[in-house]
Amino acid sequence: MYPVFTAIRQWSNKALLAVGRVLYKLSLGLFPTSMFSMTVDSGHLKTDVRIVSEDEDSVTIAKFDEGGRIKDGNFKILSTTDLHLGDDPKLRKKAFQLLANHICQSKPDLIVFTGDIILSKFQQIDAIEFAQFMEKIGVYWTIVFGNHEAREEKGFFKYLLLKSVSDYKHCLAKFGPEELFGYGNYCINILNSETSLQQSLFMFDSGRDILDEYRGQYDIPADMGGYDFLKKEQIDWYRGKIASLREKYGDFKSLMYMHIPLKEYEHAIRQKEDGTFEFTDECKILYGSAHESVGCSAYNSGMFDAILEEKSTQAVFSGHDHVNDFCAVYKGIYLVYNQPCGYETYHMGTNFGWEENRWKQGVTITLIDAKGEIKLAQRFNSMYLKKQPQKQQ
Ligand SMILES: [Fe+2]
Repeated sequence: MYPVFTAIRQWSNKALLAVGRVLYKLSLGLFPTSMFSMTVDSGHLKTDVRIVSEDEDSVTIAKFDEGGRIKDGNFKILSTTDLHLGDDPKLRKKAFQLLANHICQSKPDLIVFTGDIILSKFQQIDAIEFAQFMEKIGVYWTIVFGNHEAREEKGFFKYLLLKSVSDYKHCLAKFGPEELFGYGNYCINILNSETSLQQSLFMFDSGRDILDEYRGQYDIPADMGGYDFLKKEQIDWYRGKIASLREKYGDFKSLMYMHIPLKEYEHAIRQKEDGTFEFTDECKILYGSAHESVGCSAYNSGMFDAILEEKSTQAVFSGHDHVNDFCAVYKGIYLVYNQPCGYETYHMGTNFGWEENRWKQGVTITLIDAKGEIKLAQRFNSMYLKKQPQKQQ
């Protein structure tokens, strides 16, 4: 039934969006004010990335030179999270303009959103506007869902949301195997030659809250609530993909993206008696800071152990905690908080009253070299804030 209802809803949502754009033009920009795709200067980038092949749970891409041969240089990923696109026209425009600035200046080969992106009242229409906005930029992009994205674990509205964005040419997101938890468990393989992988990106739906239906299966106590965890079949799928990719390409490095952080992020920080947070000496901290507890599941289903055993994944990227933005190295694995990029949610201003030039809004840049080694960097929205005029003496 989903495909039929989805087609009807997608058609009507696109029609409503088109009407909105006509009204916006006829009203000379006065109505409706929500049209961020009309008001944000996004620019257009050329990409030399192309899709080589795809199947149910993976898409393989590569950069090509002008002669049509696969290039083996650096590959740049811009990742960001928790845009929390809501219903305030000024704040949604601001978030998208600053995001567009980062994209145009850093010129990534791929953009990854790690959830809690589109949460507005007209979410399904805004999903299409968001996808069309990204298409205008012209760079390949992808998304995993956050805990706020849809109230269903697997249902029509979540299906529609993913279908509405994944239909677009530059969106690499896939539903993934039907038998897995949620929607959007898939991998993106980046080739650096016909026969070798520069990197593989594993994407996961990390769910929402611990549901009663999983308590028996995972032996979870009745009083354990809170955020969700990756399910056994997702971990098995990850192990299976590593094995099949290794068989095809030999040893390769990989990265992992999900919304809710793994429980191992907790090894990086502890809360002090005064309520603030400090880093522990269990991890090496490469950058960033911590201002809230790790919003992970209380239940550890073992993905981190699988990462250690499989010896492929070098970094995990999460979102969810808007005022943490550190990168910690735990047992040799980078545990990274993507920079958040939303304003219609809590941040350093709402929680601590900090001046905006110290907020964490921005993007994370991952530069992958030809051998698959990574370098990370933060880019902050504050670099685009207008400088305050100097006071006259
Ligand atoms: Fe969030």
